[in-house]
Amino acid sequence: MILVENLSKVYPDGTKALRNITFSIARGEFVGLMGPSGSGKSTLLHLIAGLEKPTGGEVFVNGKRLTSMDEDELAEFRKSNMGFVFQFYYLLEDFSVLENLTIVGELAGQKDPKKKALEILEFLRLSHRINHKPYQLSGGEQQRTAIGRALMLNPKVILADEPTGNLDLEEGRRIFELFLRLREERGITFLIATHNQEMKRYFDRVLRLRDGSLEN
Ligand SMILES: Nc1ncnc2c1ncn2[C@@H]1O[C@H](COP(=O)(O)OP(=O)(O)OP(=O)(O)O)[C@@H](O)[C@H]1O
Ligand SMILES: [Mg+2]
Repeated sequence: MILVENLSKVYPDGTKALRNITFSIARGEFVGLMGPSGSGKSTLLHLIAGLEKPTGGEVFVNGKRLTSMDEDELAEFRKSNMGFVFQFYYLLEDFSVLENLTIVGELAGQKDPKKKALEILEFLRLSHRINHKPYQLSGGEQQRTAIGRALMLNPKVILADEPTGNLDLEEGRRIFELFLRLREERGITFLIATHNQEMKRYFDRVLRLRDGSLEN
């Protein structure tokens, strides 16, 4: 599902964030991305999502070569294949939970985004919060709303950057258990960057970065 070959990223100021990384992730795998601060985790996720261009190497997702796509093709590809979940939830503050989801479906031209949003919110156990605004929610509820937004587009891959970074351990575990259910029930492939050693036990395996290189 994800194939990364000889990937490097040198930022314009000369920082070598990734050095010749190669790995692959099969469909339905649940993989951790760990390593010290500054080791290149976010950079790697951004390159796989096509949010940034590599300085060398290739990224393939679901058999398609991202590194040869232009911005429009990338945006289109992301919409139908990839969901991104961040440490900070980036919800629309003036919109309700339900509206935060439906707007994604509307922009994508879906037939009945409200029905789909309600189903997803039920799956996320947020049915009792649909008319709340983000500021009225706990951190975990905000993160589940952000995950719901990603699910509106039926992603095959979810890339998550410190998704539990702002949550306590209990809320963090709930998010991971939710991800595992999405893997079981929908076959979604996950790559999750985290500092949290507690979460290691959830992963099928862990990719370790140090100074922009893959260990082991
Ligand atoms: N836009 C940028 N311009 C220059 N250097 C950058 C840029 N973004 C990141 N870097 C550098 O690239 C390296 C990797 O950064 P990255 O954000 O990928 O690390 P990380 O593993 O996600 O760290 P953290 O755990 O703190 O989130 C660091 O040395 C960082 O300072
Ligand atoms: Mg990071």
